[in-house]
Amino acid sequence: MSEPVFSPALTSDEGVQLATELFRDTFGTNPQGVWYAPGRVNVIGEHTDYNGGLALPIALPHRAHLALSVRDDRTIRLVSPQTREAVDELNLDEIGPKGSAGEVKGWAAYIAGVAWAMEQAGLGPLPGFDAALYSCVPLGGGLSSSAALECSVAVALADMAGLELDGQPMAGSAHAPNDEGRAQLVTYCVRAENDVAGAPTGGMDQAASLRCHEGHALKLNCRDGSVEHVPFDLAASGLALLVIDTKAPHSLVDGQYAARRAACERAAALMGVDLLADLDPANLAEDMGHLRHLALDDQTATCADAASEIADDADMLVRRTRHVVTEIARTAELVELLKNNERLEGDVLASVGELMNASHDSLRNDYEVTCPELDVTVEAARNAGAHGARMTGGGFGGSAIALVDADAVDTVAQAVVKAYEENGFNPPAFLKAAPSAPAGRLQ
Ligand code: GLA
Repeated sequence: MSEPVFSPALTSDEGVQLATELFRDTFGTNPQGVWYAPGRVNVIGEHTDYNGGLALPIALPHRAHLALSVRDDRTIRLVSPQTREAVDELNLDEIGPKGSAGEVKGWAAYIAGVAWAMEQAGLGPLPGFDAALYSCVPLGGGLSSSAALECSVAVALADMAGLELDGQPMAGSAHAPNDEGRAQLVTYCVRAENDVAGAPTGGMDQAASLRCHEGHALKLNCRDGSVEHVPFDLAASGLALLVIDTKAPHSLVDGQYAARRAACERAAALMGVDLLADLDPANLAEDMGHLRHLALDDQTATCADAASEIADDADMLVRRTRHVVTEIARTAELVELLKNNERLEGDVLASVGELMNASHDSLRNDYEVTCPELDVTVEAARNAGAHGARMTGGGFGGSAIALVDADAVDTVAQAVVKAYEENGFNPPAFLKAAPSAPAGRLQ
């Protein structure tokens, strides 16, 4: 059997050096600075952000590093190790939303989109810039590699334009980040992703990258953007969070994510609430019965013939809604367990694990966003002794997390590798997720 392969995080020094070298090789000068932004995993609270619910992400030690210098014109030039041979060149005056004449293709959309969104918010005109990206957030692993990219640009541009929004001039400085300014930066990054890259995501990833604190999970209230930093020192409890990148093909720009979001919006409209987070979990059974009736009536008007399709559709809306309402309740419960217990052990640890397991099962059965690789990962991890395991992020591929004893990381990883081999899947990759620092400047 093959051994598990772990993807290491670059140290700050390595990140600075690699991004600076790439910048110098490409543009022939030293960058004015190097900024970074982390990827994330979400501990619980999945597909709740665009429903105004709670999420609980942590920032990963894996980061996008961005070496950047501003220019005295409106040109943007971008390079990454993958595009070294063909530097992307754009003009800030020509960038526009997806579908417009100014549509930006590929990874440049996440970078140029942030500058565009800042200008749309009245912060311009911004200078053009040269930038070299060196990221160790696994691409396409559902760990927010694109949000990390956006957020690194946001802190760099805010800093260089003197906007005083990021409020953390140097990583490791005692300066508290300006959380209000960062919440504002989140909105520009979300706009870049929604409007310019065309992915209708909900904002949790960008909030995690910009607003998490080291050693803490971020209780994010997606209704009003308020946050609370919840201690999440797994090492002190002898635990570790193992991330398993399934390597299954995955894309949030395809129709499935948008379809889930549309179903939630329809269910909320039928129930007469703004967002599904407005439904009270205490009335779940009653509300779901009510929603089913409303959905059946709603459909009868439009396609009276296909009775079985109408019933299937109503059942689908009920399942999607049930996931959202119960997931928000599970997140609130897990937050309370963390806040009330310094150490995760015994019954408390068992309850945390059960909540994670229930989250995955709900995402598999009710929300239908898992895939064979995610389900096999979670089952193998649980059977190998994980206290809890679930998919994390948008789903349809991407990554899973397993809460394990610190000395069981290798055993659980090996069990997952074995299960992949038995199922004929591509080999997975592994990461260790310690709750890390938010985006900032390194040099
Ligand atoms: C993706 C999106 C987020 C969020 C998660 C699911 O990561 O980018 O906004 O909706 O899926 O929780």
